[in-house]
Amino acid sequence: MVGSALARRLRAAGYTSILTADRSDLDLLDSRSVHEFLAREKPHYLFIAAAKVGGIQANNLQRADFIYQNLMIEANLIHGAHLAGVQRLMFLGSSCIYPRDCPQPIKEEYLLTGLLEQTNEPYAIAKIAGIKLAESYNRQYGRQYVSVMPTNLYGPNDNYDLVSSHVLPALLRKAHEAKLRGDKECVVWGSGAPRREFLYVDDLADACVHLMERDYDGDLVNIGTGEDVTIRELAEMVMATVGFEGRIVFDLSKPDGTPRKLLDVGRLEALGWCARTPLSEGLRLAYEAAPFRY
Ligand SMILES: NC(=O)c1ccc[n+]([C@@H]2O[C@H](COP(=O)([O-])OP(=O)(O)OC[C@H]3O[C@@H](n4cnc5c(N)ncnc54)[C@H](OP(=O)(O)O)[C@@H]3O)[C@@H](O)[C@H]2O)c1
Repeated sequence: MVGSALARRLRAAGYTSILTADRSDLDLLDSRSVHEFLAREKPHYLFIAAAKVGGIQANNLQRADFIYQNLMIEANLIHGAHLAGVQRLMFLGSSCIYPRDCPQPIKEEYLLTGLLEQTNEPYAIAKIAGIKLAESYNRQYGRQYVSVMPTNLYGPNDNYDLVSSHVLPALLRKAHEAKLRGDKECVVWGSGAPRREFLYVDDLADACVHLMERDYDGDLVNIGTGEDVTIRELAEMVMATVGFEGRIVFDLSKPDGTPRKLLDVGRLEALGWCARTPLSEGLRLAYEAAPFRY
């Protein structure tokens, strides 16, 4: 999802030398192939959008895969970039790197000040290692490797698999299928009370390019909207987008997770960027592009 949004954003800005690689071109778990690829291509800028990504269930069940694969992808790309002389790189982390119970909204300096959420701890530890890798190459070798921490993302090319997806794409698909079946109810996990923040993926890509073009090479930066909604409000907006007219039922037997997760975006705003796509508009665009409709 993020890689294709970055390519769209760069193309729209007139960049013509955009090199992408998917799994069939390059297995990022294979150090030698990654190092050879980077030594051959020598990109001026490198965005690391590849990762093993998933929702709570996938993170909790495939704990070894999440920590191993993410550590390998980051280490291969960051060390490989350094060996190939790549000076500027952007590493994408995730807001789950912050302590589970940290104050809200979450400031960048809360990193490593408390315990992590258990369900995705292996993934978060791998992402924290990625941030520290980038930081260490800057300190030891004078590289300009920046880490950004996006909030929950959604948009074209999202993962709509009901087992491994995140809450927003899962809701879009469930609402769509409920509408097609003519159901009277659509079930949503948990109480609907937790508050979450959602950023349209093209806004994220815009923020990443904004920072890269301005040669930003400071500390890690949160990327979000600075606003959150309850899961109930999100579910209502999704149902309206899809045109599902039945009732929303909250399944209280399912966990809520942390009550609130909102990023502080003060640092990003001070760097001259803020999100543009309102949630209602982003939902419409995501639904229009959703593969399960076609
Ligand atoms: N989605 C969110 O809500 C969210 C929120 C915060 C941060 N992020 C971060 O943003 C980045 C991108 O996330 P996304 O949502 O765009 O995920 P995504 O759609 O799953 O994209 C990840 C990409 O990485 C590729 N990949 C994984 N392992 C690989 C390997 N060994 N070799 C080659 N390619 C490999 C995947 O290929 P396959 O398709 O072949 O598996 C996929 O194309 C990640 O770093 C993620 O942590 C995402």
